[in-house]
Amino acid sequence: MSTGHGPTHSIDFDHPPTDPVSLFEQWFAEAQRLPTPNPNAMTLATVDADGAPSARIVLLRGFSIEGARFFTNRHSRKGRALAANTRAALLFHWDLLDRQIRIEGRVSVASDTESDEYFAHRPVDSRVNAWASDQSEPVASRAELERRAAEMTARFENVDVPRPPHWGGYRVSLDRIEFWQGDKYRLHDRIVFTRSEGGLYEVVRLCP
Ligand SMILES: Cc1cc2nc3c(=O)[nH]c(=O)nc-3n(C[C@H](O)[C@H](O)[C@H](O)COP(=O)(O)O)c2cc1C
Repeated sequence: MSTGHGPTHSIDFDHPPTDPVSLFEQWFAEAQRLPTPNPNAMTLATVDADGAPSARIVLLRGFSIEGARFFTNRHSRKGRALAANTRAALLFHWDLLDRQIRIEGRVSVASDTESDEYFAHRPVDSRVNAWASDQSEPVASRAELERRAAEMTARFENVDVPRPPHWGGYRVSLDRIEFWQGDKYRLHDRIVFTRSEGGLYEVVRLCP
């Protein structure tokens, strides 16, 4: 496939589709064919109770009109920020396609059933380590981390590892979603879909 430079392999930004979900799916499918290990990696930006922003990578694990889903430890730094302020932003950058997608919305907590289902499909060591790691908390050493992992491995030996109650999914709603396609000499293409009260999207082209 092409590297995507130039408008040829992109959408017609002057006549964009009306549905940002199918457009996302199209771009994401193209990203998944890239020779890159985590095309579903996205930056998640949160704002804490003091108004301080922070950002980190998480993996996209599901996308629909309901939003973009990821999984994490709800006691983590990001989890605490999201409990205080549900507004969040996501960012994908696929350099080989010269594309960027920005999503802004509010997080909702995925249901226990959904989180259980996803957790059950993880490799057993990942499930054990979800118990072993107090994500974002200090830990004295690598040895201490491994001691905790071994302790949890022993605890769950011959047991179907249950989901920790503090581990689960979040979904960022698609209130604003922008598609960016790089082009020559910085004359890039941008369109932004903004959701109105009725749930319909207004589509606007932006200057690069
Ligand atoms: C490629 C990549 C994928 C990651 N995926 C996740 C993920 O899906 N969920 C997660 O909690 N952390 C993931 N992380 C780790 C986070 O970036 C971060 O270090 C961790 O969640 C703690 O962040 P916090 O202290 O801001 O809560 C990933 C890191 C990288 C580099």
